[in-house]
Amino acid sequence: MILTHVVACSENRVIGAAGDIPPWHLDEDMKFFRDTTKGHIMIMGRKTFDSFKGKALPNRYHIVITRDPSQKHFASTEKSPVVFVASLEEAVEHAKLHTDKWGDEVFIIGGGEIYKQALEKGLTDKILLTLVHRHFEGDTFYPQIDEKVFRQVARRDVQTPIPFSFLTYIKN
Ligand SMILES: NC(=O)c1ccc[n+]([C@@H]2O[C@H](COP(=O)([O-])OP(=O)(O)OC[C@H]3O[C@@H](n4cnc5c(N)ncnc54)[C@H](OP(=O)(O)O)[C@@H]3O)[C@@H](O)[C@H]2O)c1
Repeated sequence: MILTHVVACSENRVIGAAGDIPPWHLDEDMKFFRDTTKGHIMIMGRKTFDSFKGKALPNRYHIVITRDPSQKHFASTEKSPVVFVASLEEAVEHAKLHTDKWGDEVFIIGGGEIYKQALEKGLTDKILLTLVHRHFEGDTFYPQIDEKVFRQVARRDVQTPIPFSFLTYIKN
């Protein structure tokens, strides 16, 4: 299994503001996120799942981390399953049961708490980082990438509507 972060952050590492993503409105990045995760398993924190406002994303298997999974219920469907687990480790173990159907690359899609724990616990093989070349206000952050642990292997720059870059890092 490959554990891959998909994340968009500003130059000052902001990924979220008041429970939502910052107002950078990057259609190309949204499309990149949809195309990348379609048909795959996504691991996320409960607050990120809440930011979907009650709508699971179509054709994706959602694993949601919360400290009290027994209290969480969601009417999931076969096309968009949603399960709740109590830790990142449990999320990874659960994902392993479903890679045959949903693919070997499993995406960690945030938010700040979950990205940080995944990096600290060594549960990250690859990072797909959209770096927005502006400063944004916010309350949730993506950690600095340790270049001793990860190396950048690809970069594509985009100029509109504001400059940003698609960066790919893999573990050394
Ligand atoms: N720009 C991006 O790429 C991007 C991507 C994703 C999210 N975001 C933004 O990031 C923000 C959300 O991030 P966040 O850091 O506030 O929250 P989060 O990581 O999405 O979720 C935090 C929640 O996860 C659960 N959790 C965390 N660690 C746990 C552990 N060790 N064991 C069990 N449960 C655990 C807890 O849920 P309970 O409280 O239910 O116990 C905790 O409140 C939003 O603003 C969102 O829009 C941005």
